[in-house]
Amino acid sequence: MSIFKAVLGICETKPLGSNLWSLEGSKVQVKLSQMPEPLPKGGAVYLRGGGLSKPVLLLRTEDDRYLAFEDRCTHFGRKIDPVPGEAKLRCCSLFHSTYDLEGKNISGAAKMPITRYAVEQSDGDLIITL
Ligand code: FES
Repeated sequence: MSIFKAVLGICETKPLGSNLWSLEGSKVQVKLSQMPEPLPKGGAVYLRGGGLSKPVLLLRTEDDRYLAFEDRCTHFGRKIDPVPGEAKLRCCSLFHSTYDLEGKNISGAAKMPITRYAVEQSDGDLIITL
């Protein structure tokens, strides 16, 4: 990540198209089966808007699990990226708070964990419970 991006808190993770997910009550349905390309292992997308009160980070882990987190660092609310090749998440700000895949803060300025949401697979799609 460049220093320029870190200063501005710009992440590498891209948004998931709003046609590929929907919110109903506290459940987000992600239409995995309709994605033009599967999310690569270790890759992530974020969901924002569409009635969500908080952005959501959706990660496909290297060991092929889908995990979802509130996409907001608990230090000052910057967005979060996966750390390539490591089972960690990292804030995109200069302070680089780091979290494990349970959401627990493990280094940096953040003093609180991020919220991890339950994810289930259903008919090839994902259901995230907020
Ligand atoms: S906002 Fe994440 S470390 Fe400051």
